[in-house]
Amino acid sequence: MSDHELLGQREIVQKLVADAFPRGIQRDARSNMGAFPSMGAEMVEDIFQRRSSVRFFNRDDGVDFNDLKILLSDVALFEESIWGGGDPRLQLRAYVFPERISAGHMDSRCVYEFVADSATFASVGRLRSGMTKESMVLQKEFVDAAAILIWVAGLADAVDDYGSCAYKELLIRSGALAHFAWLKSLSLGYEGTVFAGILPKVLRQVCGIDGYRKNQMFAFALGKRA
Ligand SMILES: Cc1cc2nc3c(=O)[nH]c(=O)nc-3n(C[C@H](O)[C@H](O)[C@H](O)COP(=O)(O)O)c2cc1C
Repeated sequence: MSDHELLGQREIVQKLVADAFPRGIQRDARSNMGAFPSMGAEMVEDIFQRRSSVRFFNRDDGVDFNDLKILLSDVALFEESIWGGGDPRLQLRAYVFPERISAGHMDSRCVYEFVADSATFASVGRLRSGMTKESMVLQKEFVDAAAILIWVAGLADAVDDYGSCAYKELLIRSGALAHFAWLKSLSLGYEGTVFAGILPKVLRQVCGIDGYRKNQMFAFALGKRA
């Protein structure tokens, strides 16, 4: 890779990070990850320069429960730093479909909502018996992710208040949160992909996401590379 290409990459990442923190991120006790911009153990720019695309997740490796909490806490802080104090109807909820999360903290047949204030997970649904993980996604490689995170909006209420532009607003916000989660996961030593998400039928059956009152806006598959 030429110096010019490297410089271009660095500028892109710097712009991404600057765009992500227009007013600077507020950190508190919920995050133990040191001051921005390192975002974790490593500078995300350094990770970008050596990373390459991977398609498959490592089925033998998982995600540390504390890393998952750090990741989602920082996503919540990021959301708050940009849109905090705004209309709660435009707030997004983070749901987790765990597969391999360390130390038995999560049941892989359950779906959890992340409660940012207490950095805890509340069970919001359970896969029916006989329902396979393969039936949850269109792209089967995502079944091997250690966890799938999705962002859920109260779409009907938001549209009621703001009209159809609420949908656009929620798409923008969920896109930003998912991409922030991706950057954060890289800095924690993981891999992942933002993607369309869990299939609608499963969401409806498992946790009452009907696509209107509650709607999945975007998703992120997280794990270690194969
Ligand atoms: C809005 C949006 C939706 C995406 N949806 C998918 C998807 O459904 N499936 C998928 O494999 N990649 C999807 N991607 C692409 C991946 O996130 C990723 O950028 C791509 O796989 C390239 O990976 P790399 O960054 O490791 O090169 C989407 C990207 C964006 C921006």
